[in-house]
Amino acid sequence: MALLRIRKFPDAVLKQPAKPVAEIDGRLDGFIESMVQTMYAAPGVGLAAPQVGDPRRVIVLDTDHENPGAHLLKLINPEVVESEGSVIWEEGCLSVIDFTADVKRAAKVMVRAWTPEQKEIEIEADGLLAVALQHEIDHLDGKLFIDRISRIKRELYRRRLAKLIKEGKADEQRPSRVQI
Ligand code: NI
Repeated sequence: MALLRIRKFPDAVLKQPAKPVAEIDGRLDGFIESMVQTMYAAPGVGLAAPQVGDPRRVIVLDTDHENPGAHLLKLINPEVVESEGSVIWEEGCLSVIDFTADVKRAAKVMVRAWTPEQKEIEIEADGLLAVALQHEIDHLDGKLFIDRISRIKRELYRRRLAKLIKEGKADEQRPSRVQI
């Protein structure tokens, strides 16, 4: 199965809100499987369709490092229906190279979504899974975690990124924290 190309900031596709999936049928399965493989290969704990240039509301997540695959989530049209408390989490993103920052999120969320098997489910989450769900749903709304930090920090990152791109270093692999 071919891996999908992960789009990187400032690719314009990352700013476009994704559209709800109107009909869940088998035609989505191959695409979702490619997303899963791309997420694991990256490696990352979450991936949203706009990150691979697809404008549909689909996300995949696996935040369980101990047992890869055991708690894999494939979610279609996910929505946060309840949230509670707040938490500051240091986030990184497969679409934002060489940068992490503290982001304020809800500490607990309840997310409603559809599975590829056409089942409507509700997921209650806290910790990394809660953060990852909010981060991926942000991607579906055309938002990156760097849109949730101060303008000064974002500008500093933009400048550093421009320098990396100019020096041809933007594609280098860098060890980093968990990528969402
Ligand atoms: Ni991300």
